[in-house]
Amino acid sequence: MRLRYHKILRAFLLFVFALTCLGLAGHIEPVLGNTDGVTSIFRPLSQPAQEIKETSLLVLAICGAIFVVVGGLLVYTIIRFRHRAGDEASEPPQIYGSNQIETAWTVLPILIVFVLILVTSRTIADIQNRKAAPGAIHATVVGHQWWWEIRYPELGIVTANELHVPASDHSRQQPTFLKLQSADVAHSFWVPQLAGKTDVIPGRENSMWFEPTQPGTYLGNCAEYCGMQHARMLIRVVVQPPAEFERWVAEQKRAAAEESSAQAGRQVFFANNCINCHSIRGTSAQGAFGPDLTHLMSRQTLASGATPNTPETLRAWVRDPQKLKVGCLMPNMQMADTEVDQIVSYLQTLK
Ligand code: CUA
Repeated sequence: MRLRYHKILRAFLLFVFALTCLGLAGHIEPVLGNTDGVTSIFRPLSQPAQEIKETSLLVLAICGAIFVVVGGLLVYTIIRFRHRAGDEASEPPQIYGSNQIETAWTVLPILIVFVLILVTSRTIADIQNRKAAPGAIHATVVGHQWWWEIRYPELGIVTANELHVPASDHSRQQPTFLKLQSADVAHSFWVPQLAGKTDVIPGRENSMWFEPTQPGTYLGNCAEYCGMQHARMLIRVVVQPPAEFERWVAEQKRAAAEESSAQAGRQVFFANNCINCHSIRGTSAQGAFGPDLTHLMSRQTLASGATPNTPETLRAWVRDPQKLKVGCLMPNMQMADTEVDQIVSYLQTLK
Protein backbone atom coordinates (compact mmCIF):
# COMPACT_ATOMS: atom_id res chain seq x y z
CA MET A 1 0.00 0.00 0.00
CA ARG A 2 2.76 2.42 1.05
CA LEU A 3 4.77 1.59 -2.08
CA ARG A 4 1.84 2.46 -4.37
CA TYR A 5 1.31 5.75 -2.56
CA HIS A 6 4.94 6.70 -3.18
CA LYS A 7 4.70 5.83 -6.86
CA ILE A 8 1.63 8.02 -7.28
CA LEU A 9 3.31 10.89 -5.42
CA ARG A 10 6.45 10.60 -7.56
CA ALA A 11 4.44 10.55 -10.80
CA PHE A 12 2.52 13.60 -9.60
CA LEU A 13 5.71 15.52 -8.73
CA LEU A 14 7.24 14.65 -12.11
CA PHE A 15 4.10 15.88 -13.83
CA VAL A 16 4.19 19.18 -11.90
CA PHE A 17 7.89 19.57 -12.71
CA ALA A 18 7.29 18.95 -16.43
CA LEU A 19 4.42 21.43 -16.47
CA THR A 20 6.57 24.04 -14.74
CA CYS A 21 9.38 23.53 -17.28
CA LEU A 22 6.94 23.87 -20.17
CA GLY A 23 5.43 27.00 -18.63
CA LEU A 24 8.83 28.57 -18.06
CA ALA A 25 9.97 27.68 -21.58
CA GLY A 26 6.86 29.39 -22.95
CA HIS A 27 7.66 32.54 -21.03
CA ILE A 28 11.38 32.63 -21.52
CA GLU A 29 11.34 32.00 -25.27
CA PRO A 30 9.55 35.24 -26.25
CA VAL A 31 11.87 37.12 -23.91
CA LEU A 32 15.06 35.62 -25.29
CA GLY A 33 14.18 34.90 -28.90
CA ASN A 34 12.02 37.74 -30.14
CA THR A 35 13.47 40.86 -31.71
CA ASP A 36 10.74 43.20 -32.97
CA GLY A 37 9.57 45.82 -30.54
CA VAL A 38 10.81 43.74 -27.64
CA THR A 39 11.52 45.27 -24.31
CA SER A 40 13.99 42.63 -23.20
CA ILE A 41 17.14 43.15 -21.17
CA PHE A 42 18.48 39.97 -22.81
CA ARG A 43 18.58 41.68 -26.23
CA PRO A 44 20.69 44.75 -25.51
CA LEU A 45 21.51 46.91 -28.51
CA SER A 46 23.40 49.68 -26.76
CA GLN A 47 25.80 50.45 -23.98
CA PRO A 48 25.18 50.39 -21.03
CA ALA A 49 22.45 47.75 -21.55
CA GLN A 50 25.10 45.34 -22.88
CA GLU A 51 27.23 45.65 -19.76
CA ILE A 52 24.16 45.28 -17.52
CA LYS A 53 23.21 42.09 -19.35
CA GLU A 54 26.69 40.60 -18.87
CA THR A 55 26.61 41.35 -15.15
CA SER A 56 23.08 39.97 -14.87
CA LEU A 57 24.07 36.73 -16.59
CA LEU A 58 27.03 36.27 -14.23
CA VAL A 59 24.78 36.89 -11.19
CA LEU A 60 22.16 34.50 -12.63
CA ALA A 61 24.81 31.83 -13.24
CA ILE A 62 26.16 32.06 -9.68
CA CYS A 63 22.63 32.01 -8.20
CA GLY A 64 21.64 29.17 -10.56
CA ALA A 65 24.64 27.09 -9.43
CA ILE A 66 23.71 27.67 -5.76
CA PHE A 67 20.12 26.70 -6.53
CA VAL A 68 21.17 23.48 -8.26
CA VAL A 69 23.53 22.47 -5.43
CA VAL A 70 21.10 23.29 -2.60
CA GLY A 71 18.03 21.95 -4.42
CA GLY A 72 19.93 18.81 -5.52
CA LEU A 73 21.11 18.04 -1.99
CA LEU A 74 17.63 18.67 -0.66
CA VAL A 75 15.99 16.31 -3.19
CA TYR A 76 18.69 13.68 -2.61
CA THR A 77 18.16 13.88 1.17
CA ILE A 78 14.39 13.72 0.92
CA ILE A 79 14.54 10.60 -1.23
CA ARG A 80 17.53 8.85 0.30
CA PHE A 81 16.47 9.34 3.92
CA ARG A 82 12.72 9.09 3.51
CA HIS A 83 10.59 7.26 6.04
CA ARG A 84 10.75 3.51 5.57
CA ALA A 85 8.83 0.61 7.04
CA GLY A 86 10.40 -0.41 10.35
CA ASP A 87 11.80 3.08 11.07
CA GLU A 88 9.28 3.64 13.85
CA ALA A 89 11.36 1.89 16.47
CA SER A 90 14.60 3.88 16.02
CA GLU A 91 15.74 7.51 15.71
CA PRO A 92 18.47 8.66 13.31
CA PRO A 93 21.81 9.61 14.91
CA GLN A 94 21.52 13.04 16.62
CA ILE A 95 24.47 15.31 15.76
CA TYR A 96 25.11 18.67 17.42
CA GLY A 97 27.70 21.18 16.24
CA SER A 98 30.43 20.73 13.64
CA ASN A 99 33.02 23.48 13.43
CA GLN A 100 34.13 22.47 9.94
CA ILE A 101 30.62 22.52 8.47
CA GLU A 102 29.65 25.76 10.20
CA THR A 103 32.85 27.48 9.08
CA ALA A 104 32.26 26.29 5.52
CA TRP A 105 28.69 27.56 5.33
CA THR A 106 29.69 30.91 6.79
CA VAL A 107 32.85 31.59 4.79
CA LEU A 108 31.65 30.32 1.42
CA PRO A 109 28.56 32.57 1.20
CA ILE A 110 30.62 35.57 2.34
CA LEU A 111 33.09 34.93 -0.49
CA ILE A 112 30.27 34.55 -3.02
CA VAL A 113 28.55 37.74 -1.86
CA PHE A 114 31.90 39.55 -1.99
CA VAL A 115 32.40 38.50 -5.63
CA LEU A 116 28.86 39.68 -6.46
CA ILE A 117 29.47 43.04 -4.73
CA LEU A 118 32.74 43.61 -6.62
CA VAL A 119 31.28 42.73 -10.02
CA THR A 120 28.17 44.84 -9.46
CA SER A 121 30.04 47.88 -8.13
CA ARG A 122 32.39 47.78 -11.09
CA THR A 123 29.47 47.83 -13.51
CA ILE A 124 27.71 50.63 -11.60
CA ALA A 125 30.91 52.70 -11.46
CA ASP A 126 31.58 52.15 -15.18
CA ILE A 127 28.10 53.39 -16.03
CA GLN A 128 27.87 56.30 -13.60
CA ASN A 129 31.34 57.70 -14.23
CA ARG A 130 30.90 58.06 -17.96
CA LYS A 131 31.37 61.73 -18.89
CA ALA A 132 29.79 63.42 -21.86
CA ALA A 133 32.44 64.00 -24.53
CA PRO A 134 32.07 66.89 -26.99
CA GLY A 135 29.58 65.88 -29.66
CA ALA A 136 27.28 64.11 -27.23
CA ILE A 137 23.56 64.81 -27.49
CA HIS A 138 21.92 66.31 -24.42
CA ALA A 139 18.21 66.07 -23.72
CA THR A 140 15.97 66.70 -20.75
CA VAL A 141 13.09 64.31 -20.23
CA VAL A 142 10.28 65.45 -17.95
CA GLY A 143 7.79 62.86 -16.71
CA HIS A 144 4.18 64.05 -16.55
CA GLN A 145 0.99 62.20 -15.71
CA TRP A 146 0.93 60.41 -18.26
CA TRP A 147 3.35 61.45 -20.96
CA TRP A 148 6.98 62.44 -21.49
CA GLU A 149 8.12 65.95 -22.33
CA ILE A 150 11.38 65.94 -24.26
CA ARG A 151 13.60 68.99 -24.56
CA TYR A 152 16.90 69.44 -26.39
CA PRO A 153 18.10 72.71 -24.82
CA GLU A 154 21.14 73.01 -27.11
CA LEU A 155 19.10 72.40 -30.24
CA GLY A 156 16.06 74.46 -29.24
CA ILE A 157 13.67 71.56 -29.81
CA VAL A 158 10.71 70.52 -27.68
CA THR A 159 8.72 67.40 -28.43
CA ALA A 160 6.92 64.63 -26.59
CA ASN A 161 6.98 60.88 -26.05
CA GLU A 162 9.39 60.11 -28.89
CA LEU A 163 13.04 60.68 -28.21
CA HIS A 164 15.16 60.87 -31.36
CA VAL A 165 18.86 60.13 -31.03
CA PRO A 166 21.67 59.44 -33.49
CA ALA A 167 23.27 56.01 -33.77
CA SER A 168 26.95 55.81 -32.86
CA ASP A 169 29.54 54.06 -34.95
CA HIS A 170 33.29 53.60 -34.78
CA SER A 171 34.02 56.74 -36.76
CA ARG A 172 31.70 58.93 -34.75
CA GLN A 173 30.66 58.34 -31.17
CA GLN A 174 27.48 60.18 -30.28
CA PRO A 175 26.10 59.03 -26.95
CA THR A 176 22.95 60.66 -25.60
CA PHE A 177 22.91 62.05 -22.06
CA LEU A 178 19.55 62.55 -20.41
CA LYS A 179 18.52 64.69 -17.49
CA LEU A 180 15.40 63.28 -15.89
CA GLN A 181 12.88 65.46 -14.08
CA SER A 182 9.30 65.08 -12.93
CA ALA A 183 6.48 67.60 -13.13
CA ASP A 184 4.25 65.82 -10.65
CA VAL A 185 4.77 62.36 -9.13
CA ALA A 186 7.49 59.70 -9.27
CA HIS A 187 7.91 58.01 -12.66
CA SER A 188 10.68 55.81 -13.98
CA PHE A 189 12.36 55.93 -17.39
CA TRP A 190 13.15 52.50 -18.77
CA VAL A 191 14.04 51.40 -22.27
CA PRO A 192 15.41 47.91 -21.55
CA GLN A 193 17.39 47.45 -24.76
CA LEU A 194 19.27 50.71 -24.24
CA ALA A 195 20.00 51.16 -20.55
CA GLY A 196 18.95 50.38 -17.01
CA LYS A 197 15.97 51.85 -15.25
CA THR A 198 16.26 55.34 -13.74
CA ASP A 199 13.69 56.85 -11.43
CA VAL A 200 12.20 60.23 -12.29
CA ILE A 201 11.56 61.99 -9.00
CA PRO A 202 9.85 65.32 -8.22
CA GLY A 203 12.27 67.96 -6.92
CA ARG A 204 15.33 66.04 -8.03
CA GLU A 205 17.30 65.70 -11.23
CA ASN A 206 18.59 62.27 -12.18
CA SER A 207 20.71 61.48 -15.19
CA MET A 208 21.47 58.60 -17.49
CA TRP A 209 23.06 57.94 -20.86
CA PHE A 210 23.04 55.42 -23.66
CA GLU A 211 24.88 54.88 -26.87
CA PRO A 212 22.94 52.77 -29.37
CA THR A 213 24.71 51.55 -32.49
CA GLN A 214 21.76 50.10 -34.39
CA PRO A 215 19.10 52.35 -35.92
CA GLY A 216 15.55 51.37 -35.04
CA THR A 217 12.67 52.16 -32.72
CA TYR A 218 13.17 51.07 -29.15
CA LEU A 219 10.23 50.73 -26.82
CA GLY A 220 10.05 51.46 -23.16
CA ASN A 221 7.52 52.21 -20.49
CA CYS A 222 7.17 54.20 -17.34
CA ALA A 223 8.37 51.72 -14.74
CA GLU A 224 7.08 53.28 -11.53
CA TYR A 225 3.38 53.26 -10.73
CA CYS A 226 2.25 56.86 -11.19
CA GLY A 227 -1.52 56.71 -11.28
CA MET A 228 -4.38 55.60 -13.45
CA GLN A 229 -2.68 55.66 -16.87
CA HIS A 230 0.76 54.47 -15.75
CA ALA A 231 0.49 51.57 -18.22
CA ARG A 232 -0.06 54.00 -21.12
CA MET A 233 3.00 56.10 -20.51
CA LEU A 234 5.08 54.55 -23.24
CA ILE A 235 8.45 55.75 -24.44
CA ARG A 236 9.75 55.46 -27.97
CA VAL A 237 13.39 56.03 -28.69
CA VAL A 238 13.98 56.46 -32.40
CA VAL A 239 17.63 55.74 -33.16
CA GLN A 240 18.58 57.19 -36.55
CA PRO A 241 21.70 57.20 -38.70
CA PRO A 242 23.48 60.55 -38.00
CA ALA A 243 22.47 62.16 -41.32
CA GLU A 244 18.82 61.22 -40.80
CA PHE A 245 18.95 62.51 -37.23
CA GLU A 246 20.29 65.84 -38.47
CA ARG A 247 17.45 66.07 -40.98
CA TRP A 248 14.99 65.41 -38.14
CA VAL A 249 16.63 68.16 -36.06
CA ALA A 250 16.39 70.62 -38.95
CA GLU A 251 12.70 69.80 -39.45
CA GLN A 252 11.93 70.16 -35.75
CA LYS A 253 13.70 73.52 -35.60
CA ARG A 254 11.46 74.96 -38.30
CA ALA A 255 8.65 77.26 -37.17
CA ALA A 256 5.14 75.85 -37.09
CA ALA A 257 3.38 75.69 -40.46
CA GLU A 258 0.82 78.37 -41.20
CA GLU A 259 -1.21 77.08 -44.08
CA SER A 260 -3.99 79.34 -45.28
CA SER A 261 -6.22 76.30 -45.90
CA ALA A 262 -6.27 75.63 -42.15
CA GLN A 263 -7.15 79.18 -41.17
CA ALA A 264 -10.60 78.29 -39.79
CA GLY A 265 -9.22 75.50 -37.61
CA ARG A 266 -6.44 77.76 -36.43
CA GLN A 267 -8.99 80.31 -35.24
CA VAL A 268 -11.03 77.68 -33.40
CA PHE A 269 -7.87 76.32 -31.79
CA PHE A 270 -6.75 79.75 -30.56
CA ALA A 271 -10.25 80.73 -29.46
CA ASN A 272 -10.58 77.63 -27.29
CA ASN A 273 -8.77 76.56 -24.16
CA CYS A 274 -6.25 74.50 -26.17
CA ILE A 275 -3.62 77.25 -25.84
CA ASN A 276 -3.72 77.17 -22.04
CA CYS A 277 -2.10 73.75 -22.03
CA HIS A 278 -0.33 73.37 -25.38
CA SER A 279 2.50 75.25 -27.07
CA ILE A 280 2.93 75.90 -30.75
CA ARG A 281 6.24 77.65 -31.28
CA GLY A 282 6.02 81.15 -32.71
CA THR A 283 2.35 81.59 -31.75
CA SER A 284 0.45 82.80 -28.71
CA ALA A 285 -0.11 79.17 -27.69
CA GLN A 286 2.43 78.88 -24.89
CA GLY A 287 0.85 76.41 -22.48
CA ALA A 288 3.32 74.14 -20.72
CA PHE A 289 0.92 71.67 -19.18
CA GLY A 290 0.41 69.39 -22.19
CA PRO A 291 2.65 68.24 -25.05
CA ASP A 292 4.16 70.78 -27.47
CA LEU A 293 2.25 70.57 -30.76
CA THR A 294 4.61 72.51 -33.05
CA HIS A 295 5.38 69.36 -35.07
CA LEU A 296 2.65 67.06 -33.84
CA MET A 297 2.32 65.24 -37.13
CA SER A 298 5.95 64.13 -37.08
CA ARG A 299 5.15 61.84 -34.17
CA GLN A 300 4.21 58.18 -34.62
CA THR A 301 1.73 57.98 -31.78
CA LEU A 302 -0.74 60.02 -29.75
CA ALA A 303 -1.30 60.07 -26.00
CA SER A 304 2.16 58.72 -25.17
CA GLY A 305 1.95 55.62 -27.30
CA ALA A 306 -1.68 54.85 -26.44
CA THR A 307 -2.68 54.88 -30.12
CA PRO A 308 -1.05 55.37 -33.55
CA ASN A 309 -1.18 58.92 -34.90
CA THR A 310 -3.73 58.70 -37.73
CA PRO A 311 -6.39 61.20 -38.87
CA GLU A 312 -9.09 58.97 -37.32
CA THR A 313 -7.42 58.58 -33.93
CA LEU A 314 -6.50 62.27 -33.85
CA ARG A 315 -10.14 63.16 -34.41
CA ALA A 316 -11.29 60.68 -31.75
CA TRP A 317 -8.72 62.14 -29.38
CA VAL A 318 -9.76 65.78 -29.88
CA ARG A 319 -13.43 64.77 -29.69
CA ASP A 320 -13.05 63.00 -26.33
CA PRO A 321 -9.63 62.12 -24.94
CA GLN A 322 -11.27 60.31 -22.04
CA LYS A 323 -12.49 57.60 -24.41
CA LEU A 324 -9.00 56.72 -25.57
CA LYS A 325 -7.25 57.26 -22.26
CA VAL A 326 -9.58 57.29 -19.28
CA GLY A 327 -8.48 59.67 -16.56
CA CYS A 328 -5.96 61.57 -18.70
CA LEU A 329 -5.65 65.23 -17.83
CA MET A 330 -7.01 66.54 -21.14
CA PRO A 331 -10.75 67.03 -20.68
CA ASN A 332 -13.52 66.52 -23.18
CA MET A 333 -13.88 70.09 -24.48
CA GLN A 334 -17.50 69.43 -25.57
CA MET A 335 -16.90 70.95 -29.00
CA ALA A 336 -19.32 70.75 -31.89
CA ASP A 337 -18.48 68.29 -34.69
CA THR A 338 -17.56 71.07 -37.12
CA GLU A 339 -15.16 72.60 -34.58
CA VAL A 340 -13.54 69.22 -33.98
CA ASP A 341 -13.10 68.77 -37.73
CA GLN A 342 -11.60 72.25 -38.10
CA ILE A 343 -9.15 71.77 -35.23
CA VAL A 344 -8.10 68.38 -36.59
CA SER A 345 -7.46 69.79 -40.05
CA TYR A 346 -5.37 72.57 -38.49
CA LEU A 347 -3.40 70.08 -36.33
CA GLN A 348 -2.74 67.99 -39.44
CA THR A 349 -0.81 70.89 -40.97
CA LEU A 350 1.63 70.86 -38.02
CA LYS A 351 4.10 68.59 -39.75
CU1 CUA B 1 4.65 57.45 -15.08
CU2 CUA B 1 4.21 55.29 -14.26
